[in-house]
Amino acid sequence: MKLKHKDLLGLAHLAPEEIDFMLHTAVPFKKLFTRSIKKVPPLRGKTVAMLFYEPSTRTRTSFELAAARLSADVLSLAVSSSSVQKGETLMDTARNLEAMKIDFIVLRHSVSGAPELLARGVRAHVVNAGDGNHEHPTQGLLDLFTIREKKKKIQGLQVAIIGDILHSRVARSNIWGLTKLGARVRLCGPATLIPAEMKTAFGNNVDVTYNMKDALDGADVAYVLRLQLERQQENLFPSLREYHDFYGLDAKKLSWAKKDCLVMHPGPMNRGVEIDSSVADGPQSVILDQVTNGIAVRMAVLYLLAGSSEGAPPRAARNITGSESSSGRTG
Ligand code: CP
Repeated sequence: MKLKHKDLLGLAHLAPEEIDFMLHTAVPFKKLFTRSIKKVPPLRGKTVAMLFYEPSTRTRTSFELAAARLSADVLSLAVSSSSVQKGETLMDTARNLEAMKIDFIVLRHSVSGAPELLARGVRAHVVNAGDGNHEHPTQGLLDLFTIREKKKKIQGLQVAIIGDILHSRVARSNIWGLTKLGARVRLCGPATLIPAEMKTAFGNNVDVTYNMKDALDGADVAYVLRLQLERQQENLFPSLREYHDFYGLDAKKLSWAKKDCLVMHPGPMNRGVEIDSSVADGPQSVILDQVTNGIAVRMAVLYLLAGSSEGAPPRAARNITGSESSSGRTG
């Protein structure tokens, strides 16, 4: 199997088998992390350009490490000191990078749809690293990978996604990915932070509740979203204290979920607002596992996209990492 897509723009348009394939491909890449030498050669000679128009800690460093561990060259454009500040358009910036023969553009942008626009105008593979409140597909994939790693399945799980759904691209990618792989999703938060269309946009496997007890009752995963204060144009709840009282995940609220319920958060966290430290750092938290898995998943994405344009990945991932028996192409 190979990916049919030149770009990764979201999970909405991917088939469940394609999502499954990407998760499966990430497994041998994760096994590399226990080795003293974590670098493999499949993207040697390729260049990955990082184009981040919004701040990032995890996604940017994770993509940089993923590209480096695949032996690609990494070009990180500092947007704040680039000609973007002189009014250069996104497309002109990208075409100039392409003129320097880059192979991938990893784009984070505040405008929903910016990666799709870019993908239509350049030959390079475009990877969406988060666009507005639309999608953050590699975050969705790394979350799926983490859930499957811990729970050994996704089908049939009850996943509560809690908080600022309105502004969250992470929520949208997770909802697409989880429901395509057979999980049930409960969205929970204040009514002002859950758009009305959420009840219908994703089909029958998504429920909406404004009550944390209902959301967490029997939940296998409690996925807490960051309260995106910087994107709020108006006051959507009375105060941070009240938000925390009703929707902040603390030990008491977590006790309403299954005993082995996973606690997840995409980062960065507002401790004491949407999540308490006792829970974020507690035994059920897999928040740092999400970060580790992000590198493996992004390695898989870059690797598979490179193969998609050349007909097939240069080698099977298992051959490259040597962590499974070799088969198929070796060249
Ligand atoms: N999860 C996530 O997108 O984090 P960053 O904003 O730090 O990349």
